[in-house]
Amino acid sequence: MKVLLTGATGYIGSAVTDHLTAAGHQVVALTRGAEPRPGRGWHAQLAGDTADPASLAGAVTPEIEAVIHLALPSGDADVDTAVIEALATPLRGTGRPFVYTSGVWVLGATGQAQEVGEDALVNPIDLVGYRPRIEQRVLAEAAEGVRAVVVRPGIVYGRGGGIPALLVDRARRKGRPEYFGEEGVRWPTVHVDDLAELFVAAVERAEAGTVWHGVGEPAVAVRDLARAAGRAAGVLAAPHALPAEQGAEDFGPLFADALALDQSVSGAAARTVLGWRPARPGPVAELVSGSYRPVEVFGAPDGPGTDAEVTAIRQLVAEVEYAQQNELADRFLSLFRPQDPVWTTGHGRRLSGFEEIATFTRKVLPGAAAESTAVYDVERVLFLRPDVAAVNVRQQPVHLDGTRITDLPEGRPFYILVKEDGTWRVGAAQNTVVAD
Ligand SMILES: NC(=O)c1ccc[n+]([C@@H]2O[C@H](COP(=O)([O-])OP(=O)(O)OC[C@H]3O[C@@H](n4cnc5c(N)ncnc54)[C@H](OP(=O)(O)O)[C@@H]3O)[C@@H](O)[C@H]2O)c1
Repeated sequence: MKVLLTGATGYIGSAVTDHLTAAGHQVVALTRGAEPRPGRGWHAQLAGDTADPASLAGAVTPEIEAVIHLALPSGDADVDTAVIEALATPLRGTGRPFVYTSGVWVLGATGQAQEVGEDALVNPIDLVGYRPRIEQRVLAEAAEGVRAVVVRPGIVYGRGGGIPALLVDRARRKGRPEYFGEEGVRWPTVHVDDLAELFVAAVERAEAGTVWHGVGEPAVAVRDLARAAGRAAGVLAAPHALPAEQGAEDFGPLFADALALDQSVSGAAARTVLGWRPARPGPVAELVSGSYRPVEVFGAPDGPGTDAEVTAIRQLVAEVEYAQQNELADRFLSLFRPQDPVWTTGHGRRLSGFEEIATFTRKVLPGAAAESTAVYDVERVLFLRPDVAAVNVRQQPVHLDGTRITDLPEGRPFYILVKEDGTWRVGAAQNTVVAD
């Protein structure tokens, strides 16, 4: 399909462009700047400003087979309504899809209700006060022969961006992880690439007049997100809840309300009906060992192939951490290559061969995490060969609540990893305690 995409330069729009293109569609990007922006995977680019609906006349030509409207709302209900009219009217009677992007904030606080679905009544916070009316205006186009669809994303994360990036930036600037509102606040979340796949599914097969929640995880504790954002920022400290007034001062009262909103929202319908399969790591894993904490990579070309290998390597190191924190000896040992592995401990003891490593692990691991533990972050990956990588890791001692033990030194584990039968494992490892 030839898809007109507003908001194509944005955070979600960039991912939607990638996934539409990968699915064989052509993206015609509507951008407010007329100057060409090459290298984004667009088939064509068209000038238009959603703050000036008249500029959109003629944007939806007969060869446009679908419209996805992702540009930010203007803040003026009349202007946004006129934009819907300008973009949807040319599709009337064609049965072609018009997908409008709303958001879960139209549902307001969901209270104790668990995983609110698309049939729940809206109760918008002030920031999105008129948005339900725009949704209704869009859905009314179903009666005019437009395949009108509304997608409501949760809080979008991934690709190092979105609102979680604000938490990372804030933790870095303030030297402690912070969040706003009550301690128990939960956000429905979605990975930007999973969400982009939902837009592709919606444009390809959602029925006219339908609403879909783009939600991967229904209710993630914001306190956990803040802690993970701190880790991404290199700040291992307890998350700090700030009063809503502080948020209002920093972000304005409307956005502060949104950040403090407690929601539990289901994305089950899109899975069941549209066959949507959100499969990316959750927001905490993404913050701790994904796109918010880039690693230096050497010896392999840039591209999705290398990205996938680095992700798998980070996953292995996350497993090392998990096994150690939970004292899981067998799981820890399964991460080693069975054939002649070698491990030199931080105290300089060399363990040669799987049996020696197994005996040592089974002796020292039980009880090791009773009072404190450690976190492991990949900092540098050098591909010596496509299937052999030298990996520099930063190991920091932490209390059981994840805060840094300041009077214990860091370690600098160095792993030689080998990929065999499709799986990365530790072939050799050495840890060095940082002395200065
Ligand atoms: N991010 C989230 O967590 C989230 C969650 C739920 C819903 N949403 C909704 O999803 C949509 C996209 O959000 P996003 O996070 O991708 O935002 P974003 O990164 O800020 O992107 C906004 C896009 O809108 C375009 N735009 C803004 N004003 C425009 C105008 N007057 N004319 C034409 N284009 C204009 C921007 O173009 P320029 O490059 O020219 O600025 C940009 O491409 C929004 O409706 C947002 O409310 C987002």
